Order: sequence, then C-alpha cells, then structure tokens
Amino acid sequence: MPLIPMRVMLDHAAENDYGVGAFNVNNMEQIQAIMMAATETNSPVIVQASRGARSYSNDNYLRHLMLAAAELNPNIPIAMHQDHGNSPETCFSAIDQGFTSVMMDGSLQADGKTPSSYEYNVDVTKQVVAKAHAIGVTVEAEIGCLGGIDDGHGAGLSEDEAAEHLTDPDEAERFVKDTGCDALAVAIGTSHGAYKFTQKPTGDVLKMSLIEEIHRRLPNTHLVMHGSSSVPRELLDIINQYGGQMKESYGVPVEAIQQGIKHGVRKINVDTDNRLAITGAIRKVFAEQPEKFDPRDYLKPARIAMAEVVKARMIAFGQAGWADKVPVVSLEEMARKY
Ligand code: G3H
Ligand code: 13P
Ligand code: ZN
Repeated sequence: MPLIPMRVMLDHAAENDYGVGAFNVNNMEQIQAIMMAATETNSPVIVQASRGARSYSNDNYLRHLMLAAAELNPNIPIAMHQDHGNSPETCFSAIDQGFTSVMMDGSLQADGKTPSSYEYNVDVTKQVVAKAHAIGVTVEAEIGCLGGIDDGHGAGLSEDEAAEHLTDPDEAERFVKDTGCDALAVAIGTSHGAYKFTQKPTGDVLKMSLIEEIHRRLPNTHLVMHGSSSVPRELLDIINQYGGQMKESYGVPVEAIQQGIKHGVRKINVDTDNRLAITGAIRKVFAEQPEKFDPRDYLKPARIAMAEVVKARMIAFGQAGWADKVPVVSLEEMARKY
C-alpha cells in the first residue's frame, strides 16, 4: 500500500472514536519496531521524523526505509509525517521527499525556541496549507507553546511562561478559521522528554479540561497531543538497574490520553517512551553480557522492547484492529477533496 495522507487516517479515527499514535523514528530498527507492532495489532500508523531525525538518518535513507516499510506491509496504512517543521522550507523539503503530512510549527520562530506572534504563526501556516493541500498533503499546526507548567521544559520556558503559553480556546478557534489546517496541536501543560512532571500530574498542571473546551469550539478539527509519553516507572527502573541515571519523573498517564481521545484528540505523539525502552534493553545486554560486541545482540532486544511499548499504546489508543478498514485514498484524490 502506498503511503497515505494523514488526514484520511485522522478522519477515520474521528468517525470511529479512536486515537492514532505518532511514533518518532531515526533509524531502521525503530521503523521495524513500529511495523512489527502495527502488524501484530492490525493498526494504521503514523511514522514521524523530526528535523534532527532527517539530518541524522539522511533523507535518502529515510525515504527508502519508509518505502520498504510500505512494500513489506501492504495491509497497513502508513502516513509519513514531518514532526515540528520549523519553517515552510522544511515542510516543502519533506513533501519533496515523499512525506504525506507535515507539521508547520509556527508557534515558535524558525529557531524552534522563541515563541512567535499570532500573525507570524498564521502567515507561515497558511503558506504551507496552500502548497500542501494543492497536492493532497495533510497539515498539522500548533497554537500555544509546549513546555511543562511543572518544569518549563520544551521551548525553554519558565514555569510561569509555560502557563502563559497554554492554548487559548478563542485563539485556537480563530487560528483554524484563518489557516485551514487539518490538525491542531495544543499546549495543555505537557512537554517533550523524560522530565515532564515531578509527581503524578493533576488537572492543575495537565489541563485536560482545555482539550474539552477546544473540542467544543472546534468539533471538526483533529486535536494533537504532543509530549505524550507516559514515562513508565518500569522503564526508568530498567535503565537505572543497569547503570543509567534517570531521575524520578512522571509522564502523561495513558488514562488522561484516553480521556482526550473522547474529546477530539486523534493524534498522540510518543517518542521518549520508545527511547527509554531501547536504552534499557541495550544497557541490560551490556551489563549482563559484557563480552558481546555484535550490534545485533543488543539492537534486536532493543527493537523488541520498543515494539512492546508501541503495541501497548496502539491498543490503549484504540487504533488496534482498524488497519484494514481505513480507506485507501491517494494524495491526488485528497487534493481534489480540499
Ligand atoms: O519533538 C520531539 C521529538 O521527541 C523529536 O526529538 O528533535 O530530538 O529528534 P528530536
Ligand atoms: P515525548 O517526548 O513525550 O515522547 O513527545 C514526543 C513529541 O511530542 C514529538 O513531537
Ligand atoms: Zn512534539
């Protein structure tokens, strides 16, 4: 099956009340882990690459790995997504590489750090929507800036700044009308990485109530939760048991995400949990079998550990079981629908 536009998948998820995990990749093993999990659970998948991932793996390798994933898994609908595009140029180069979906993250300036103005965000997002929709490619945008209220992680915001940059529902409504984006990432108190919350998050720091309000105002816009790793205690423990130094930390509980899915969340971004699983598995081999030096001896368990996490999320988000029911729509057909 060719790669399909992400919009098709999110529309299907909305019609059937489920969410789709979007998993970050940087190499072959991570792509294979996602495809193993998707095959085992019969799930449609979103595979996403950040700018850092594209430069680490090189666009040509990435493109061919994704084509291999599609070729080897003809029954799994796959969308290939640019995560956090920092400029229209980044999004356009992703489209040239065959990505079927892009995120224009205009909530930050092109440096990927400094919060931008509403006008800037609308301007860059509209430029991307115009070009992408003309060829059937999906566009995710972001309003409000990620950054934990708890620790200001993410855009490097302080605790107070992060609280100030949560998504404003009025602005979200205006932004979708002004840009015509397909999916909207919202800032509700989550942040990227392993250190999101210093204790199990309550509604004061993880504002799921904002999602409900935004969904009430934008019932037809697919909402996206970034920074959605759950940072499971058992994954931190494995890393620390084998010589790592992860500090105590709390992520976004899976039940909170499931609550979000009931209120319009259709795409859930997960990277950190997979990084933790991979690191723990590799550390275990190094600690228990220090004589090993064949990369396959530690990359195989790492791949399995990541596949287990992805599988669990696919089941929890409700995408499991739907792969063969998502309509196959080409980019050309999608372009005609816009
Ligand atoms: O946006 C955050 C993702 O976890 C990607 O991270 O920029 O280090 O590849 P990265
Ligand atoms: P995590 O760091 O919580 O996995 O979030 C990943 C993400 O939002 C990628 O865009
Ligand atoms: Zn993100």
